Amino acid sequence: MEITIKDAYELDYKSDCLVLPFFETADMELCADIDAKIGGLIQKVITSGEFKAKEGQCVVLYVSGVSFDRLLLVGLGKRADITAEKLRRAGSKAFVRARESKTETVTISVRALNETEKSIGAFSPPYYFTEGAMLGLYRYLKYKKADDDKKDEKEIKEAVILSKDKDFPVQWLTLNTMASTFARDLVNSPSKDMTPTSLTDVAKSLAGKNLKVKVLEQKDSEKEGMWSYLAVAKGSAEPPKFIVLEYNGAGKAVPLAIVGKAITFDSGGLSLKPADSMEDMKQDMAGGAATLAIFKAVSFLKLPINLIGVLPATENMPGGHAIRPGDVVTAITGKTIEILNTDAEGRLALVDAIGYVIKHYKPEAVIDMATLTGACSIALGNEAVAMMGNDEKIMAEIREASDETFERVWQMPLFEEFKEYLKSDVADIKNIGGRTGGLITAAYFIKEFVGETPWVHLDIASTAFLAKPKPYFVKGATAVGVRLLLELIRKRVEKAQKS
Ligand code: BES
Ligand code: MN
Ligand code: ZN
Repeated sequence: MEITIKDAYELDYKSDCLVLPFFETADMELCADIDAKIGGLIQKVITSGEFKAKEGQCVVLYVSGVSFDRLLLVGLGKRADITAEKLRRAGSKAFVRARESKTETVTISVRALNETEKSIGAFSPPYYFTEGAMLGLYRYLKYKKADDDKKDEKEIKEAVILSKDKDFPVQWLTLNTMASTFARDLVNSPSKDMTPTSLTDVAKSLAGKNLKVKVLEQKDSEKEGMWSYLAVAKGSAEPPKFIVLEYNGAGKAVPLAIVGKAITFDSGGLSLKPADSMEDMKQDMAGGAATLAIFKAVSFLKLPINLIGVLPATENMPGGHAIRPGDVVTAITGKTIEILNTDAEGRLALVDAIGYVIKHYKPEAVIDMATLTGACSIALGNEAVAMMGNDEKIMAEIREASDETFERVWQMPLFEEFKEYLKSDVADIKNIGGRTGGLITAAYFIKEFVGETPWVHLDIASTAFLAKPKPYFVKGATAVGVRLLLELIRKRVEKAQKS
């Protein structure tokens, strides 16, 4: 869906559907002119008690004699309680309803939206409403055949925001939501279509003047001594691909590094997962997909920053050459690891990726995003990303970005007592810390390889892929982390430009 903004009057603009948001209890004064032209239908549906403008409530009226065929009333709840998140949810509800109503062009009236009393975020209310619409309309239909009813529901082509706001950030909104869609498609793709090699092709397709994409083949990774990452790949017939992205938008400035877990399928390896835990393991490259999406948006917008991205891509499979529980490997930093559980593979890949980026790029900081632990959902449900790290400043920055995008993060402690949990009898460290504190020991394991570089770990295991839908997310991939880090970057750029 394309988003445009037009300084036009609702009754003049031709479309299939006009979306008219209302605060509780529907204020008629705001739309008296429109109602007069459609025979008082809005008044009727309000008087009848059917439409009360409760949060997310939708009513579609077929109208004639005006420039639009349908009028979609959508409720925003109480004006005093409005938040950016409520607007996203309402936008999603309205547009999913508009799509069911077979519309192609949808106009949005901003009358009520602009009546909010307080500032609700970095952007104006129509931004959040439209953002929710875009995110809510997403579907993964690649393999749905014609017999599915969703298939004959056409996509909405255009959303026109009827507003005078000349500074409305159409491009930012479009790129954020497109990046989100891009990441969701990658994650929803079956692992057969999204091997380390296919992921490499995707990364290469992003390359351009300001974005270099390098791929380390198995041999190159061996030369780097990334035996921890390579251990994960040993049981797979698919060759591992260590993908490095270099985005240059700010000359010689010290880069920020983003590392995304990119296990294209996690069977658990020889420590094989039970069948029901394996079902959704195509999602295990969600951190990597989010990283690619961020680079896509940043390089399109030519943002004035420097970024390095790393995706240590591989499958985790139980083939004949697979690494065995009890094996010991050496990571790029020289630390030895006793691999007691081959299903704790994410941390093995990540420590080499982080070690590599620190060694070769000396970044200002490293942020990693990883579907790292089942324990993440035990701790936080599907409601928050778990955040841990060694740098309070960047964590505060991420928290601020998260307040803006509602990709909520929750900090967990890295008490030094957890070091004990990872003591190995035969090597410097072991890759599992026992059942208790599993979310934290996974992060603590990574911390042991990071050193002094500022680092933040985001465990997205319970938020990257949903088994049940959320207000503007259908089941499946959510692209969590994409809008979050794009917002962090936007804030940084904004700050730099002000100073
Ligand atoms: N990729 C999984 C974690 C995961 C679980 C992601 C559920 C998304 C949804 C990770 O590689 C894993 O298997 N972790 C193990 C670690 C354990 C063996 C210490 C886990 O959480 O069970
Ligand atoms: Mn695993
Ligand atoms: Zn995994």
